[in-house]
Amino acid sequence: MPWQGPLVAGRVAVVTGGAGAIGRASCLALAEHGADVVVADIDEERTGQVVAEVGGLGRRAVGVVADLTTKEAVATLMDTVDREFGRVDILVNGVGEHLGVSGRFEDSTEDEWEALYRVNLLHVLRTCKAVIPGMRQRGWGRIVNFSSVEGIRSAPMLGAYTAFKGAVDSLTKSIAVDVAGSGINCNAIAVDKTRAHQVDFYRATAEYDFMVPVWIPAGRYAEGADVAAVVLFLASEMGRWVVGHTVVADGGTLAAGGWYRTPNRFTNSPLLVQWLEDDPEANTRRPPPLR
Ligand SMILES: NC(=O)c1ccc[n+]([C@@H]2O[C@H](COP(=O)([O-])OP(=O)(O)OC[C@H]3O[C@@H](n4cnc5c(N)ncnc54)[C@H](O)[C@@H]3O)[C@@H](O)[C@H]2O)c1
Repeated sequence: MPWQGPLVAGRVAVVTGGAGAIGRASCLALAEHGADVVVADIDEERTGQVVAEVGGLGRRAVGVVADLTTKEAVATLMDTVDREFGRVDILVNGVGEHLGVSGRFEDSTEDEWEALYRVNLLHVLRTCKAVIPGMRQRGWGRIVNFSSVEGIRSAPMLGAYTAFKGAVDSLTKSIAVDVAGSGINCNAIAVDKTRAHQVDFYRATAEYDFMVPVWIPAGRYAEGADVAAVVLFLASEMGRWVVGHTVVADGGTLAAGGWYRTPNRFTNSPLLVQWLEDDPEANTRRPPPLR
């Protein structure tokens, strides 16, 4: 069985945002399963750390420190990969952020849209275009893009961000169908609530921790490794029959879709039900909640 492992032995992987929480965990998972890794990220110090960690696992690692929102940086990345390894078998597009741009859509600016476009979609177009010809030639390739549950459901006050994450899903589907006959699988992963640099690892005081299961059915924030497992699956032979999908890896937030856990039940009216639970007398003044 091809999935007894190592799962990606001898493959060359490029991970953009490779020094991020999900990116780093993906680099390590791929290296543990036999891949050499190019770690591409804008953060020099963290990139160096991940390169060292991959090296510590006995795999070859090369770091490329660059702002991948520029055309030149993507070209430099691809030149480096070509020079060092001669090919890309696995491309993981981990760069993406909402950039803290939040507010009413009518107040958003063209500069914000442009910045969100560049960091969430443009580099995905560029990197995919760069790697597909070689993958086609060799008859094997894996592309894993990163969208977000917010590219699927709404995210009020984050309209432009959701548009570009949704576009990643859309692009992924179309590329996937185009390249599937050449032994290339292109898929995406939509995550939610993952402890990562861009959300300051959801750092909060300990007394706040008990609230997390209210909105994450699995009961905790995701760690990079939870998502890296999906990357490894899609990047290996195990994912060979998955074509053009967005795998949602979110601990249940999307499926919950408006349902929340209160101390005694699940509800789609969280504050109302909690108020009724906190004040039993309230049930005598108002009709009891159905759920
Ligand atoms: N963490 C979450 O809760 C969450 C939610 C939804 C979607 N996502 C998506 O998951 C993916 C992985 O992010 P993460 O959660 O690991 O976050 P992270 O902040 O830990 O990692 C992102 C990495 O990308 C790098 N980066 C940012 N801009 C760059 C640029 N212009 N050029 C090169 N590198 C750049 C950062 O330095 C960082 O190391 C992203 O596409 C993100 O949009 C994450």
